[in-house]
Amino acid sequence: MLLNTDKITKTSSIIAEKLLPQNGGNSEKERQLSKLKTVPYRNKLSERLSSQPSESLGRILKSVEAIEYVTQIALLQDLVWEVVDARINNNYPRIMNVAMNAIGDGASLHLNPQLRIPKQQLMTNLHWMPGGYLSDSGHQDILAGLRYLNYLYLFSTGSPFESFFDNLVPRVKDEFIENYFPSLNPKRILDLGCGIGHNTISLKNLYPNAQVTGVDLGAAMLRCGYVNAKLLNQEIEFSQQNADCTEFPDGHFDLITSFFVFHEITNTSMKRIIGECARLLRPGGVMVHFDAGIFLDPRTLKAKVFRDIQALSNNEIFIVSPPLPTIEKMIEKSGMKPVVTKIGDPSVVNNNLGQWQIVAGVKL
Ligand SMILES: C[S@@+](CC[C@H](N)C(=O)[O-])C[C@H]1O[C@@H](n2cnc3c(N)ncnc32)[C@H](O)[C@@H]1O
Repeated sequence: MLLNTDKITKTSSIIAEKLLPQNGGNSEKERQLSKLKTVPYRNKLSERLSSQPSESLGRILKSVEAIEYVTQIALLQDLVWEVVDARINNNYPRIMNVAMNAIGDGASLHLNPQLRIPKQQLMTNLHWMPGGYLSDSGHQDILAGLRYLNYLYLFSTGSPFESFFDNLVPRVKDEFIENYFPSLNPKRILDLGCGIGHNTISLKNLYPNAQVTGVDLGAAMLRCGYVNAKLLNQEIEFSQQNADCTEFPDGHFDLITSFFVFHEITNTSMKRIIGECARLLRPGGVMVHFDAGIFLDPRTLKAKVFRDIQALSNNEIFIVSPPLPTIEKMIEKSGMKPVVTKIGDPSVVNNNLGQWQIVAGVKL
């Protein structure tokens, strides 16, 4: 895991520079964090895995090496959120001023204060994000979105993720959509669990003539996305809805996407979302769900260990997904033809996340 705490770089085309802090907040914590740029205990655990390749998953997870590593990640994550919050606090009046005065044509926001939020999402602070995605004090609150945005930035700038961050959706289009569905020319696109909508904006960049909508459960995430889209002059419709039972009519969309959602939902929700995609797609329309291969399909013992360590250290309580053949069956049963494959280069990043899982389906 690599972190850049030395400087706050601003290179993204899908996140407005004005929303990012200009400077750090707590220099001591920033220093501590840069010292932890690599996680030392990871090596010890990797050594154990190589020297005892037939050890059971349960034994490895209870080993001293695994426990030290889990503890280290949990401490690191605490520090990350302290740094994120200090950066936000130190820049808050300026950022809120930018947010409140953002003008820009096209972006729209529909919030639904009556929305029934699934309890398991409401009660879980995934990756220990303070307050979780769904904290919301109402009206102008964009804090959950700012936290997520700064978290992404901390992990991506200066790290092997950096180019991936802006290139993620273009790569999904080039390496997957163009390959499997070359004649798909989507006019209506829906991004499920869009969060702050930076990948939704990327979709709009790639399909400028399409009408692009992002839905999420979190009001403060969506408000932040809306402000970001306004600052970038991007015509995106943000709407607070549950991805597993949206308000859109049948057959409304040509392309439905989700990015990094499947490892953060229950299996029941995954099944419902797949069913909802089948309802919302026109015949020939395509759904593409993107996530880390290590989360959705960890094939080796090492991959399984690092996935379970995320669950233990990072509060990723939904991370254990059904096996891919089970997901393929869910897709078939919903009336779609599944296409389940991996993209990405294992050498892109150094921590097992180099392969990306695509779970897709075309509506019959
Ligand atoms: C890891 S974030 C991913 C956000 C964004 N897609 C990205 O690429 O960064 C997962 C998002 O899924 C949203 N989410 C989870 N379950 C949902 C549901 N049933 N309906 C809508 N959004 C959901 C969460 O609120 C959160 O914003």
